[in-house]
Amino acid sequence: MRRLLVTGGAGFIGSNFVHHVIDRTDDHVTVLDKLTYAGNRASLDGLPEDRFTFVHGDITDAPLVDQLFSEVDTVIHYAAESHNDNSLDDPSPFLDTNIVGTYTLLEAARRHERRFHHISTDEVYGDLALEDPARFTELTPYNPSSPYSSTKAGSDLLVRAWVRSFGVRATISNCSNNYGPYQHVEKFIPRQITNVIRGIRPKLYGKGENVRDWIHADDHSSAVLTILERGVIGETYLIGADGEKSNKDVVELILGLMGERTDAYDHVTDRAGHDLRYAIDSTKLRTELGWTPAFRDFESGLAATVDWYRANEDWWAPAKDHTEAFYASKGQ
Ligand code: NAD
Ligand code: DAU
Repeated sequence: MRRLLVTGGAGFIGSNFVHHVIDRTDDHVTVLDKLTYAGNRASLDGLPEDRFTFVHGDITDAPLVDQLFSEVDTVIHYAAESHNDNSLDDPSPFLDTNIVGTYTLLEAARRHERRFHHISTDEVYGDLALEDPARFTELTPYNPSSPYSSTKAGSDLLVRAWVRSFGVRATISNCSNNYGPYQHVEKFIPRQITNVIRGIRPKLYGKGENVRDWIHADDHSSAVLTILERGVIGETYLIGADGEKSNKDVVELILGLMGERTDAYDHVTDRAGHDLRYAIDSTKLRTELGWTPAFRDFESGLAATVDWYRANEDWWAPAKDHTEAFYASKGQ
């Protein structure tokens, strides 16, 4: 039995990982989460009390982090400010959490000699042209576009430096866009699903040609568990499931699945600096560690996600009005 510390475990992907680990291992999990607007304690409901501890706190709180590191063997670092649009509005919390927070954790990993896995994003590589057949690999140069992605890139570089200079036993994974239940309604797919439920037309930034490479959050969790069990210290692994789709195609799919006309959406103000296309080549993870995604059919995964938002309005409704007011103030 390992003792795991999961930072950001009340967020969308972190909570998915906590359920995944509790269901598939004997490990004990401690979650450290600040419960920002993006954290939701209810996403962790139903976990067995003898195998799960929740700590409400901040990853920049060095004494708290130090105490928690003394009690665990392995740390999986999900906590972040994660939304590009928010980073364009106010970058400051992104620097605190993504940079200073990661630094605080790395210093504790160094002091306590703990195994550390850093969760990152494909956005650190910038974007690809729409018509380019290329995909990101572990060798693609860093070229982030937004305050969010530049702070994630900075955090990745801190991890690499702490591995090389101080011998911290760390791995990094950079994953593409996740979808599935328990995702905050600020994000693209839940925003459009909950708009349709509320009778609001979906909102597409610009022409909607931008491409994202979708992966189900369950597949992200299985990949991270694989890296924890078989990953090589100091290595980076890209996680993706061959799910490239334009935003326009995704909105039309959602509308079709929800029984609406597929052209019943609005084009709104584009995102500043909007990355055109992300695409992941996950050959290294598949061939070296033997991982494969379980979700092969985006449309059926999306249909199950629509069903979940329809059945769980209590979970998302408290954040919906405020989120839409924020977007409306920006013409989005
Ligand atoms: P999220 O915004 O849903 O959750 C973030 C969680 O971190 C929340 O529970 C929040 O309360 C917590 N948190 C924020 N600041 C904190 C702090 N200072 N101290 C402690 N907890 C804090 O994010 P997500 O979408 O679940 O993303 C999780 C991680 O995965 C992030 O590191 C993100 O960069 C990365 N990632 C996300 C995606 C995606 O598609 N969402 C894809 C690739 C990588
Ligand atoms: O690629 C991984 C990244 O994916 C993660 O690192 C981020 O944490 C995560 O938020 C996500 O970033 P994106 O910016 O790609 O996700 P978002 O859901 O904000 O937007 C997806 C696409 O949809 C993007 O091209 C912008 C567009 N969009 C978004 C919203 C909210 C719209 O067209 N309309 C919208 O209302």
